[in-house]
Amino acid sequence: MDVRYERASKSFGSTQALAPLDLTVPDGKFLAMLGPSGCGKTTALRLLAGLEQPTSGRIYIGDRDVTRLEPRHRDVAMVFQSYALYPHKSVAENIAYPLRLRRSAAAERDERVRRVAELLGIGGLLGRMPRELSGGQRQRVALARAIVRRPHAFLMDEPLSNLDAQLRLQMRVEIKRLQRELGVTTLYVTHDQIEAMTMADLIAVMRDGALQQLATPAELYERPANLFVARFCGSPPMNVLDGAVEDGSFRHPTGSIPLPGAEIRGPVKLGFRPEHAEVTDHGAPDSLAGEIYVVEPLGNETLVTVRLEDELLNIRAHAGFDRPVGERCAVRPAEGRVHLFDKDSGEALAKPGERGASSAGHAATAGI
Ligand SMILES: Nc1ncnc2c1ncn2[C@@H]1O[C@H](COP(=O)(O)OP(=O)(O)OP(=O)(O)O)[C@@H](O)[C@H]1O
Ligand SMILES: [Mg+2]
Repeated sequence: MDVRYERASKSFGSTQALAPLDLTVPDGKFLAMLGPSGCGKTTALRLLAGLEQPTSGRIYIGDRDVTRLEPRHRDVAMVFQSYALYPHKSVAENIAYPLRLRRSAAAERDERVRRVAELLGIGGLLGRMPRELSGGQRQRVALARAIVRRPHAFLMDEPLSNLDAQLRLQMRVEIKRLQRELGVTTLYVTHDQIEAMTMADLIAVMRDGALQQLATPAELYERPANLFVARFCGSPPMNVLDGAVEDGSFRHPTGSIPLPGAEIRGPVKLGFRPEHAEVTDHGAPDSLAGEIYVVEPLGNETLVTVRLEDELLNIRAHAGFDRPVGERCAVRPAEGRVHLFDKDSGEALAKPGERGASSAGHAATAGI
């Protein structure tokens, strides 16, 4: 079922944890709610679960207004960062618990527990106690308990944050696969942009309790609605320079970049991603002059930091890139890959050569 926030807000005393939020997760889709610590992600999830009452606005699951409904009547399943298992129940009993609450028949219950455990690769652990499991195995048990029945929605709050990097990667893949297989509408909270980009159909980027952009991962990457989104999504983050557009070029104290088709003029911020620029020779046309500051070989590529006068730029270069620190060089952004932002508000301006505003993020659901 789809899930909908309608002008739903939450204040704790004088703190506005969530500004009025309008957001729909279409039926069966995976939406990641992404943003830095304290931006209101957990609050939004708890409103949907019924663990908090909104200060204003309404919440719908399908056609049903659940705003005043008790959590247990909302039929949503939750997985939290701290996945509390019942310590004195076996793995099988832990997983079966939601079914027991709903008084399913014992035979059917056992069958479902077994199926879900197989699905998550913990079929051999059903007889163990939680203390006899590794962190990753416990995580899977918590996940199994959430998916053992078909709720209207899955709500997951940073479910992978306690796992080591490798296990996170593995679980990321499994949760994504499971969600597609089960087709249950999912709200997944994370502050990890890679998790959001790789897992979600849609990403809602939050900041200070307010929705910044709702878009597909591709749209978010190609057309960030503002500087905050642009810099939050992508690693290393987008490079941003202050300058001005004059006569169809971006002017900076260290050089100028042609912007064919740019319709604006005056002060702006120019952004480009580390993968959309090359390090070239000092004095090359259409480039910004600087020097090599740091070179970090990663095996499959090289991260190069270039110092312009006062700014450091991150550039992704090929694996064999090897130039001495301090050498004079230049940076040339790829044509058509630069973003312009209003210098004060940070809102995205029309991409050079394209008509219309690029901050069309809120319309992105249309295509999904
Ligand atoms: N029960 C509460 N009482 C008072 N303030 C709260 C309460 N819960 C959350 N807040 C405040 O509301 C804001 C949003 O909190 P929330 O937990 O939703 O953030 P978050 O995005 O989940 O952050 P994190 O990534 O750190 O988990 C924060 O400023 C927080 O301090
Ligand atoms: Mg949180």
